[in-house]
Amino acid sequence: MMQSFIRKPSVLMASLFVGLLGATSLASAQSLQIKQWAASCAACHGTDGYSEGGMASLAGQNKDAMIKKMNDYKTGKIPATIMHQLSKGYTDEQIAQISAYFAALPAQKPVAKTK
Ligand code: HEC
Repeated sequence: MMQSFIRKPSVLMASLFVGLLGATSLASAQSLQIKQWAASCAACHGTDGYSEGGMASLAGQNKDAMIKKMNDYKTGKIPATIMHQLSKGYTDEQIAQISAYFAALPAQKPVAKTK
């Protein structure tokens, strides 16, 4: 069994390569999806979650705290004008992924490099 694999290293390499390729494109498709969900928050919370003022920034927020807030909006535990409706549009899984996305960003907006 093992020997037939060793005799066909090219087949083994090819299937490994295809497997890796598949995993990579799946991962990037998923992160693109999460970015798109997060982009819909930008209209109110600022580009990439960096508020320009008058609204809470989402970037750099604690992931668990954000998940809890979204769920509290969902259940009506925290009164809201908008988020109680918006939060209902996302599954627990989506909320976890969106929260992880914003939590991974630095709390301070990175300063654009000038030449
Ligand atoms: C139409 C505008 C709008 C959009 C779009 C929006 N929000 Fe909000 N968000 C608000 C407002 C307004 C509040 C303050 C609570 C309220 O009145 O609903 C808020 C509050 C929050 C808070 C609490 C902030 C804090 O620090 O207390 C979180 C977390 C949040 N939003 C997450 C999100 C996420 C995640 C998205 C995208 C999926 C999103 N919001 C999209 C308007 C918006």
